[in-house]
Amino acid sequence: MAVETPAVQSIKEEILELKKKRGAAIMAHYYQIPEIQDIADYIGDSLALARIAATLPDKVIVMCGVHFMGETAKILCPDKTVLEPDSDAGCSLADSCPPEEFRKFVESHPDHTVISYVNTSAGVKALTDVVVTSGNALAIVETFPKDAKIIFGPDRNLGNYINSITGRDMLLWDGSCHVHEKFSGEKIVDLKKQHPQAEVLVHPECTAPVRLLADKTGSTAVLLDYARKSDAKEFIVATESGILHQMCKECPEKTFIPAPPSDSTYSCNECAYMKLNTLEKLRDCLKNMAPEVEVDKEIAERARLPIERMLELSSR
Ligand code: 13P
Ligand code: SF4
Repeated sequence: MAVETPAVQSIKEEILELKKKRGAAIMAHYYQIPEIQDIADYIGDSLALARIAATLPDKVIVMCGVHFMGETAKILCPDKTVLEPDSDAGCSLADSCPPEEFRKFVESHPDHTVISYVNTSAGVKALTDVVVTSGNALAIVETFPKDAKIIFGPDRNLGNYINSITGRDMLLWDGSCHVHEKFSGEKIVDLKKQHPQAEVLVHPECTAPVRLLADKTGSTAVLLDYARKSDAKEFIVATESGILHQMCKECPEKTFIPAPPSDSTYSCNECAYMKLNTLEKLRDCLKNMAPEVEVDKEIAERARLPIERMLELSSR
């Protein structure tokens, strides 16, 4: 583990003091930098972060992730102050589905149930019947009859994955994540030649040629859990490289190899949005109580129902 400099230690102390003063809880997604994961009170995948936010007693939540995660927390807890270290931390997948265009798509298929991935703006959630995350999408889609007419958005890769597993023909919005689409089947095959015993862990936002190489496909929390329980000693990981921090921490005797993006053999695949958050920005948002996540009240009201429906369906 890297040795902490006195400067980092001092920022961490400031964060802990400010957190106490503000009565705040710090939440972090697995793609955050290690220092933020380590100082967070709660760490998880999108599903866990939504579930925990809904039940927290604290008055202030700092969501270290991307903007839609802060919005989800604010929608579920309208009376709390939700802060985000950097309000520019967006999501290419959420951006691939502008609410006005999605509205037209939905209105042109009025007989369809609308299922949306949590990686969407509040405006898209407000047009949705049930929200899902990568951790529960398959199970929630399977609660609908086999012949149900479903619009699934915005991730075409997750949608294709569910269609292929369930034999359904959901109508897919043509969106994607720029990070996960960059993984290449060829590079993973090359890595497998060097590490023939390694198991391949793949996020369902990856393309079909990458998913076909997977020993396990699932959300960040599902992949972490699989790594904990598997007898394998080596893993090739095809999702944002931030997850390797928890994997290495929880399974120090195992080796985790980040799958590289298609345009490089050596580098990790990182989400530039997730990596906008730093310890300094986390400290400053607690100091300034800004940037604060705001969601239009009417949109939040409509977006809350499909999120609550997801939480209810995935607690059964
Ligand atoms: P998880 O729900 O698996 O944590 O994924 C969130 C995400 O943004 C994947 O790119
Ligand atoms: Fe969005 Fe992709 Fe980053 Fe996840 S990894 S937050 S889907 S841009």
